[in-house]
Amino acid sequence: MADLSTTYMGVALKNPLIVAASSISSYVDKVKTAEEVGAGALVIRSLFEEQIQHDDMTLSDFMERAANISPEIQSTFYPPVEHGGPREHLMWVEKTVNAVEMPVFASLNAVNPGTWVDYATQLAETGIAGLEINYYAVAADPDKSGSDYEKALFDIVESVVGAVSVPVAVKLSPYYTSTANVVKEIEKRGAKAVVMFNRFLQPDIDVDDETIANEMVWSDPREMKVPLRWVALLYGRVGLDMALNTGVHSGRDIAKAILAGASAVQVASTVLQNGLPYISTMLMDLQSWMEEKDYDKLDDFRGKVSQQNVEDLFGFERAQYMQLLMSQQ
Ligand SMILES: Cc1cc2nc3c(=O)[nH]c(=O)nc-3n(C[C@H](O)[C@H](O)[C@H](O)COP(=O)(O)O)c2cc1C
Repeated sequence: MADLSTTYMGVALKNPLIVAASSISSYVDKVKTAEEVGAGALVIRSLFEEQIQHDDMTLSDFMERAANISPEIQSTFYPPVEHGGPREHLMWVEKTVNAVEMPVFASLNAVNPGTWVDYATQLAETGIAGLEINYYAVAADPDKSGSDYEKALFDIVESVVGAVSVPVAVKLSPYYTSTANVVKEIEKRGAKAVVMFNRFLQPDIDVDDETIANEMVWSDPREMKVPLRWVALLYGRVGLDMALNTGVHSGRDIAKAILAGASAVQVASTVLQNGLPYISTMLMDLQSWMEEKDYDKLDDFRGKVSQQNVEDLFGFERAQYMQLLMSQQ
C-alpha cells in the first residue's frame, strides 16, 4: 500500500484529504464519520464575527458584501442556532476536537482588527491543531487601492500569528493583482500555510422579484484549474505549505494537486453531494493511481509538474492560449 502521509503547516496528517470548512462540521457525528471513512483532517466552519454581531446592514453595505458573498455566511446551510457570542462556537470547537483523533483546525472570519486577535486567541485555547484565517474583502470601494486591501490582510495575519501559539494558515481569495506576492508577504508574517482558494458565490438577480438571488451551487471539477495553476507556479518559490482548494472532486484530482506541489487538498462540495463515504473512494482512487505509477509516497511525485520541474514554464504562465485558440474551427 502506498504511503499517503503528508505534513501540512507542521502538522502530520495520515493523508492529504482535509475536509474543508463547511456544514459537515456542524454535527459532531458527521465529523466522527469523516474520520472513520479516512479523512486526514478537518476544518471546522468559520467563527463569523458578523454572525455574532448581527450588524444592521444598510442596502449599500449588503450590496458591497454580497458582491462576493461566501457560501458559508448563508445561514440556510446551518442549524438555526441563535448566537450568544463566541462562547458557543468555542465550546463546540472544543467538543469536536475531543471527539476525534484526527487533527482539527478552526477557522475565523472577523471584521474588526481587535476581534481578530481576541477570537483567534480564544480559538487557539480549544485544543485545535491550527487556525485558518478565512479572509475576504470585496475591493468595492473606489477610493481604496489594491495595496490598501492587501495591507489590511497583512496586518491581520501579523497580529494573529503574534498572538497565538498554534500554526496559522490563510485561506485566500483568488482575486489579487499579484497573488504570488501576497503569498510571499503572508509567509513573511509567519503564516505556515496558504489555502488556495476560497470559493465565493456570485450573487444573481431574480428578474421576477427584481431582487438579489443567492443560490447554492456546488463547485465543478473544472474550477480546480485556477488553484492548480497557482500551486504549480508557486511550488519551490515559497516556503509555506499550500493546500489546494476548490474543485477537487476525485482521487485523480488529489494526484493533480500533489503533482502541482500541494501539501494537501481541501474538499467540500463533492463530499456534501456524494456523502461522507465518498472520502474513502477518493483515497482508494489516489492509492490505485500511485500503485499504477509505482509511487510509494507523495514526495515521489510532489511538485513534479510545477514551475520547478517543467521546462515549459510558459505553459503555466500563458497557458498556450494562442495554439488552443488557433486550433478551434
Ligand atoms: C455549505 C458550505 C459551507 C461553507 N462554510 C465555510 C466556512 O464556514 N468557512 C470557510 O472558510 N469556507 C466555507 N465554505 C467554503 C469551503 O470551505 C470551500 O472553500 C469551497 O466550498 C470550495 O471547495 P469545494 O470546491 O470542494 O467545494 C463552505 C462551503 C460550503 C459548500
